[in-house]
Amino acid sequence: MSTKPRIFCPGGLRPVAVEQLARNDSIVLIGPPPEKASRAEILQLIRENQPIHGLVGYLNPVNDEVLDACGPELKVVSTPSVGFDHISVPSLASRSVRLGHSPSILNHAVAETCVLLVLATLRKWNGMQKALKSGDWSVNHIPLGNDLRHLNIGIIGLGRVGLECAYRLAPFGCVIRYTDIRPVPVATVTGQGSLEYVPGADLLAEKSDMLVVACDLNASTRGMVGERLLRKLRGGKGGWVVNVGRGPVVDQDALVRGLKEGWVQGAGLDVMDPEPLPPNHELLSLENAVLLPHQGTATVETRDSMALMCVENGIKGAHGQLMPAEIDM
Ligand code: DGY
Repeated sequence: MSTKPRIFCPGGLRPVAVEQLARNDSIVLIGPPPEKASRAEILQLIRENQPIHGLVGYLNPVNDEVLDACGPELKVVSTPSVGFDHISVPSLASRSVRLGHSPSILNHAVAETCVLLVLATLRKWNGMQKALKSGDWSVNHIPLGNDLRHLNIGIIGLGRVGLECAYRLAPFGCVIRYTDIRPVPVATVTGQGSLEYVPGADLLAEKSDMLVVACDLNASTRGMVGERLLRKLRGGKGGWVVNVGRGPVVDQDALVRGLKEGWVQGAGLDVMDPEPLPPNHELLSLENAVLLPHQGTATVETRDSMALMCVENGIKGAHGQLMPAEIDM
């Protein structure tokens, strides 16, 4: 039997990365496009191709069922995403399977999405579109938005993405504050604005008109932005929320109530709970909610870079070498 590692790549990975994978010294098995096969069919294909040494690409969730399908020789799981909350880390750890992800290269794309959502939310994008499509451009039918200039923005989570959001928002002339598990050693965002650390999300909400969620999902951030926080925004006059982190960080039921009752003025969400959001979900019917289907990284350049990093992690992991971005478990 060949000693080359066997890598299974679920379909859907960017072609440039699949080509790269094909060039390496492994046996590569490419799965069918995700829309053409059920999860059960993909798992069956993996089982039939045991042993699998590397699972390289996006599969959601990656749990014991997937790891069992790969077999006991699995060495690495590599995802083309920075987030890995869809992967059962304890299951990987208990089998000594390494985990690679694709951080940093997506920061600017997600931060650009953040700016898009901030502006679209403030300028009432959905209401504008409605007026445009109705053909009635009369003043009374065009909703007025709010200035971004001078807005107090509170960023929850000043990690790699949060910092890039701050860099891009500060030049608009807003006041940027943030909270994180600890102050991040950055004093100034740009020549035009400073970045103030605020201890705790409650205090941050008190000082903010808009919250930007840019943190990851973990036990301490799940449900962090709930009714209590939302009601504090803009001095209780109804503020805004933008989420480019993970959906469950925001208590979505509370947010929907706030958007309907007016104690939240608007929301811009790239991430929701659950995903995909069911097409009949109430959020989709709210004019003051600007929604994107979790596509903050959806540019050709960024998706290619993420997929290439995923492949590099996977190849190195399958060969037992140092990986460029490995999660410390
Ligand atoms: C990530 O990489 O985690 C982004 O949220 C896109 O999935």
